[in-house]
Amino acid sequence: MVKEYIDSNIQRFQDELFEWLRIPSVSADSRYKQDVRKAAEFLKAKFQEIGVDHAELCETGGHPIVYAEKKVNPSAPTILVYGHYDVQPPDPLDLWISPPFEPQVRDGKIFARGACDDKGQVYMHVKAFETMSRLNRLSCNVKFMVEGEEEVGSENLASFVRDNKEKLKADIILISDTAMISLDHPSITVGLRGLSYMEVEVTGPNRDLHSGVYGGAIANPVNVLCRMIASLHDDKGRITIPGFYDKVVELKPAEREALNRAPFSLETYKRDLQINEIWGEEGYTTLERTGIRPTLDVNGIWGGYTGEGAKTVLPSKAHAKISMRLVPNQSSEEISKLFTKHIKAIAPPTVSVNVIAHHGGEPAVTPTEGKAFAAAAKAFESVWGKRPIPTRDGGSIPIVALFKKELNLDTVLMGFGLDSDAIHAPNEHFGVKNFRMGIETIVAFHKHYAE
Ligand code: BES
Ligand code: MN
Ligand code: MN
Repeated sequence: MVKEYIDSNIQRFQDELFEWLRIPSVSADSRYKQDVRKAAEFLKAKFQEIGVDHAELCETGGHPIVYAEKKVNPSAPTILVYGHYDVQPPDPLDLWISPPFEPQVRDGKIFARGACDDKGQVYMHVKAFETMSRLNRLSCNVKFMVEGEEEVGSENLASFVRDNKEKLKADIILISDTAMISLDHPSITVGLRGLSYMEVEVTGPNRDLHSGVYGGAIANPVNVLCRMIASLHDDKGRITIPGFYDKVVELKPAEREALNRAPFSLETYKRDLQINEIWGEEGYTTLERTGIRPTLDVNGIWGGYTGEGAKTVLPSKAHAKISMRLVPNQSSEEISKLFTKHIKAIAPPTVSVNVIAHHGGEPAVTPTEGKAFAAAAKAFESVWGKRPIPTRDGGSIPIVALFKKELNLDTVLMGFGLDSDAIHAPNEHFGVKNFRMGIETIVAFHKHYAE
């Protein structure tokens, strides 16, 4: 019944998703502010179409939150579905094969910004709800909270959650905003990394200088910044900031073994990325390096002349954006402070530095015991024919730790993307099969969770 309903409506589901994907809900760029709202309005209307009791836009200091709920039975458990309708900026535009906001199916995949992260995955929940509602199979009360600022740090969501504890009362949080290992190996994410995002500005002379007239006699801020950044890792791939690893939880040998049992081929990994060799912290495997170890990476670096041709200049300033991925029990605030202190300490007297902290978020580990995980595992098994493998993902969804802290709620991370879906990059895509089977899996979760 469920499968038939989904199969016979899948084209319409996809057409509706396409309509949503055409709205460029880029939260980071104020030029898209009206489009972000339009995407929220679209979703609210879709909720109303599928028969929720109530759907609304909740205004915040930034982009609105879409909230909807359906009470089925006061004695049934309540699932709170969280997701985001905002997307990353689409650039560099010239690398897209088809334009980012003109969705297209190629090779069984939907290509568009937001196809996987996270409109495509949110829409599976909308259509799973429609399926259950039309077939009279709603077994759980459902609340939906879909925000428009996830990609810019969810700044207004934290206070919304704090101010609406009663409204958000639930038994479990369900999120589809992560990846699974592959179509052959369904998995459930049980860990996410936290984040500290910093910006460093190095200032040398008070103005740009002729690099011949002054070069060699004045410290070049770009050269200085590069040296400072290079010193942040030692030759074992470890981060040199004092105290950085102090709170890191080391996994027990058995836990590490379990993590490394997940199917992973280094050869395929290298081939896919066209690299000859991998890199990382000595003593850890690639799965450990992305799953349970903290990192530091430059996300952007600029200064001086970057236009066409050559311009001889000794720049006055140099800048870098640097992110650190955190693991339990590191604290984003503490790490940001350690970073700032260290950068100031290693800056030579020839320059001045300014460090600012952008958004951050705490790491999270979700339980593998209990009713919710069991229901998710059963759901995956019934649809994909295999027991899902628990994995630790390297990305961050800071709201997961916040839900635990503010609402004391655990989360199930039922993601249907693939690492190769190019989220945040040109040609982001989402498998049509992932979309269809994801809807089925969500319906199965509701069923098993109510049992
Ligand atoms: N959906 C991603 C997070 C993600 C991706 C988790 C893949 C696991 C696997 C989310 O939209 C995201 O991009 N988060 C940001 C952090 C946020 C604070 C901007 C990230 O991880 O960079
Ligand atoms: Mn996401
Ligand atoms: Mn994202």
